[in-house]
Amino acid sequence: METHKKLVLGIFGFGVVGEGLYKVLNQTPSLNAVIKKVCIKNGIKKRNAPAELFTTDRNILLNDPEINVIVEMIDDADAAYEIVKTAFINGKSVVSASKKMIAEHLPELLELEQKTGASFLYEAACCASIPVIRNLEEYYDNDLLHSISAVVNGSTNYILTKMFEEKLSFKNALLQAQQLGFAESNPVLDVEGYDALNKWTFLLTHAYGILPKTGDIVFTGIQSVTAEDAQQAEKKDCVIKLVASAKKLKNGKVAAYVLPHFVKKDDQLAFIKNEYNGVVIESSFADKQFFYGKGAGSLPTASAVLSDISALRYHYKYEYKKLHHHKPNELSSDFYVKAYVGFTDWNHIRKDDFESIEEWHSNEQINYLVGIIHFDKLKNSTWWKKTNVSLILTADPVIESLDIVKLKKRSLELAGFSGGYSLS
Ligand code: HSE
Repeated sequence: METHKKLVLGIFGFGVVGEGLYKVLNQTPSLNAVIKKVCIKNGIKKRNAPAELFTTDRNILLNDPEINVIVEMIDDADAAYEIVKTAFINGKSVVSASKKMIAEHLPELLELEQKTGASFLYEAACCASIPVIRNLEEYYDNDLLHSISAVVNGSTNYILTKMFEEKLSFKNALLQAQQLGFAESNPVLDVEGYDALNKWTFLLTHAYGILPKTGDIVFTGIQSVTAEDAQQAEKKDCVIKLVASAKKLKNGKVAAYVLPHFVKKDDQLAFIKNEYNGVVIESSFADKQFFYGKGAGSLPTASAVLSDISALRYHYKYEYKKLHHHKPNELSSDFYVKAYVGFTDWNHIRKDDFESIEEWHSNEQINYLVGIIHFDKLKNSTWWKKTNVSLILTADPVIESLDIVKLKKRSLELAGFSGGYSLS
């Protein structure tokens, strides 16, 4: 069997990641990979590579029989899907960094991959330089994964760090993230949690064998998090992070979401600053493990693409072991979470959604409550996503059954609520 296949690459995209890949490939001559052509959208823009390498005609790459690997790093998820589909049909393997495209089309792409026998690798699409997908596939190849929680979006983590530790404004922090090449070309995707959600859908496939649609997962971003919320976090000895989480419940199903979180300052996730990403895995016997590295940026992302290209030399494929060889897992929203909710107007809060409200506060600077809410209520409502409402889960927020904590419904009254708001 051919072990070290010669790789002839057709590359789509020469932006932050594409140019990074060009640089790292030039510094890795041992790889036995050559770039034959690079397809770009804007043929006029000056590039830091020989002009003869570039074309604007995708078919030149897709129809070239010598090109055996398509490396796709473009921004447009629909165009990326068409490119990847055609590449498979034309017998080429694919390395992709397009998280949105993967999140939206993984089931169809898996079918095509299987039919054509090609490989489809995308380590760069989640947590950039951290080899989390291959680890979940190969090392955590069993049923013992209790939970996985992660910071998977570098831009929001950068913004939170700069805002709350260096007192930069949201606008300036985002501008820096854009200038440094971390942010999506439409930064709403980062700020409002879509990018993290996209990444989490396929991480769930590799962690638990679930193939969710993005609409199945409860999520939001950091758009409503305020300096007052950060002060409350500080009082509780916490920081605020946008956390993607999945946890195996006692009923065998999986609780998963992407939401802002209070994270205790001594928790590994609190250690993750700026554009770094991190993943904490808890499993039955190994206990806790923490993977940490750069989650965005040119060379860190290119390093993961390079590693996928390198793996193709020995015909590596994800086996989707948990999808195909284990009893498939299912998502569940039958659990409770403890959440802090900051708000400007009590009328913005659907108080009847809460099983109990344990803490509340109201003065000229800040209104907030801390309460327990069934996850279905979050899944089926949007009040908590509105402007001027910031829902932040508390540290260790998942409660599987209310019997355990012996809750008293409407405990706010019992706690002696005597403010100006009515709860009834
Ligand atoms: N915009 C993404 C982020 C880039 O900030 O994490 C890396 O996927």
